[in-house]
Amino acid sequence: MNKEVLDGLFRPKSVAVVGASAQPGKIGYTVIKNLIEAQYIGKIYPINPKADEIKEILGLKVYPTVTDVPGPIDAAVITVPAKIVPQAAEECGKKKVKGLIVITSGFSEVGEKDLEQQVVDIAHSYGMRVLGPNIVGTLSNSDRLNASFAPFLPLAGKASLVSQSGALLIAIDAATFTRRVGFDKLISIGNMSDVSIADTIEWLNEDENTSCVTLYIEGLKDGRRFIDVCKKATKPIIALKAGVSAHGAAAAASHTGSLAGAVKVYGAAFQQAGVLQATDLDNLFDLTLSLSLQPPMRGENLLIITNGGGVGVLATDAAERYNVPLKFAPADLQAEMRQYMPDYGSPKNPVDMTGMAGNEWYQGTTQLALKHPWVDGIVVLYCETAITNPLEIAQSIYKAVQDSGVKDKPVTVSFVGGERSAEAMRWLVEHGIPAYGAPDVAVNAISALREYAHVKEFANEDIEICQNDHRDAAIEIINAARADGRDSLTEIEAKQIFALYGLPVTQTYLAKSEEEAVSLARKIGYPVVMKIVSPDILHKSDAGGVKVNLKDDHAVREAYTTIMNNAKSYKPDANIHGIVVQEMAPWGTEVILGSVNDPTFGPTMMFGLGGIFVEVLKDVTFRVAPVTTKQAIRMLDEIRGAPILAGVRGEKPRDRQALAETVCKYSNMILDLADEISESDANPVLVYEEGKGAKVVDARIILKNK
Ligand code: COA
Repeated sequence: MNKEVLDGLFRPKSVAVVGASAQPGKIGYTVIKNLIEAQYIGKIYPINPKADEIKEILGLKVYPTVTDVPGPIDAAVITVPAKIVPQAAEECGKKKVKGLIVITSGFSEVGEKDLEQQVVDIAHSYGMRVLGPNIVGTLSNSDRLNASFAPFLPLAGKASLVSQSGALLIAIDAATFTRRVGFDKLISIGNMSDVSIADTIEWLNEDENTSCVTLYIEGLKDGRRFIDVCKKATKPIIALKAGVSAHGAAAAASHTGSLAGAVKVYGAAFQQAGVLQATDLDNLFDLTLSLSLQPPMRGENLLIITNGGGVGVLATDAAERYNVPLKFAPADLQAEMRQYMPDYGSPKNPVDMTGMAGNEWYQGTTQLALKHPWVDGIVVLYCETAITNPLEIAQSIYKAVQDSGVKDKPVTVSFVGGERSAEAMRWLVEHGIPAYGAPDVAVNAISALREYAHVKEFANEDIEICQNDHRDAAIEIINAARADGRDSLTEIEAKQIFALYGLPVTQTYLAKSEEEAVSLARKIGYPVVMKIVSPDILHKSDAGGVKVNLKDDHAVREAYTTIMNNAKSYKPDANIHGIVVQEMAPWGTEVILGSVNDPTFGPTMMFGLGGIFVEVLKDVTFRVAPVTTKQAIRMLDEIRGAPILAGVRGEKPRDRQALAETVCKYSNMILDLADEISESDANPVLVYEEGKGAKVVDARIILKNK
């Protein structure tokens, strides 16, 4: 990141508007008007070739070109039609402008990729960066900068928004006032011809006026850089990802390919990057509020303080739903809190001070709880009552936080009531305490602070990349298949590659005659499995091409003839390579491992339980490769069927460690062969009791088109 250049874009000390217009209603007029109305602290230079004629726009002197401007220009907002933008860029380059904020539409979004690239090339030749094109512009409260056609600066606050949708940015701008969620910067990122979301996050992470980054994403261009930048970020990042339809599924040739929708891969990438994912726009606002105002919740002990049993129960339910289940407060804390409730109150958790609770009780309990080492975070609930004043309650909560001196434990609040409660909550937010109209939302907001602490922990784990010196051998197998005109490998070839990368595959050999099949079966040892090998028969069982549990020479001979006959009648013109004879792995828990080469994030791993779990329930989980053994263990834990691997109904636990190591090796394989493998499956993989490992029974590799 060239910080100085990006400073010029996002916090310019002077702005030229190229395409400034004296005609109200035009974007070139609106931007000038917005800059003036926001009381921009820097210099504003309107640029228009008819400067001699126009002379002034809204009292500002107009210059015919940027090169005529007397002082330096940090950012040029471009509001001329698309075909003039390259020329405008050229002039800005000569003027040594740092960055271009290209509002103009009509570039790659309508197929004009070359024109867009031309602008970027010109900009880069002068060391400039390009924001956009096709954007609303950029806004910064701390600089009083509204270099956009959004009508006003947002409600001031500590979050900063990066939005891929211009219209949504304008809507969020207005909603900051009704939702009472403050932002410092709103950055419209548009076509991302040059400055990407990752670049912007990197810059915002160093921006002193930003405490949390809020993203609206339609599609990333540089998935892996995004993950790297977010991992390194020291501020919370929340993303709302739009576009949840499955992509690429129709064309998928593997099981994994058909299950890897954009949502799942993005979800995995966000998790690995330490980015919190908002579920919808409301949630994006709610989480932005808590993450921009409060510290992360570093432990699991959440305490709920309330004056109403009902809201306490609602919050308790929500705590369970959002993975911060309540535990009873320790005895000493319970005893201390007793002084702030009647006999019929409850200090357990939720701490129910009852409807008798007034200012002092709220203040006393909140302060005691914050100072107690057991407590990691607090949700304070209040139901409006006739005997209390909501604003005073709010002030008591604030005072408790202040007087406690505790700054590293989060507090969120929910007031349920009417206008007086709404006013009290506005007061709380203005004083840095997130407040919400519903108890479950306050719990969700604090659970996000807990999740943030968690994901940061995971995101900073070291990545183990297994060294492997078998790449050449793998490429040789792949090249041979390509030379054969194939875009997928046979089971034997796929297993050979898996084995090169240390995956535990069953012994598998190709027989081209009955005699050969018998001698291979003897070599492996009975019982064996036999399967047809043909690039034209992908679903072997459907073709009658699989025979299992063959116990002697006779069974092998018979199976050979039957499989050949079945295959020929299933597909008479099939190209048959032979029949594989393979070790019959003993029964184990069936799982599936697989990979896709995601267009945004590259090689990505999938794990799920096999059979019906994957077919019907689609109970699978993803991670962008490489996956560490620790991450793989978390993959095993997060599927719904996780208890099956842990051992249910008297069964011994499965060898999760061996399975996790297999996932790790697999992920290294797909990363190493990223240029070659498009999709792959190991299905099934049989997992045995703890200490007894796992076996890949069947394998499939689909090659990338070259
Ligand atoms: N340098 C500076 N100004 C120039 C110029 C140059 N080389 N060439 C022309 N201009 C002036 C024009 O004379 C005009 O000023 P005027 O009103 O005094 O005549 C001004 O630049 C604007 O040009 P004009 O041709 O009138 O364009 P426009 O205002 O109708 O539209 C855009 C320009 C950029 C707004 C339009 O092309 C566009 O892209 N609109 C969509 C914007 C958008 O929605 N962005 C994405 C949001 S998500």
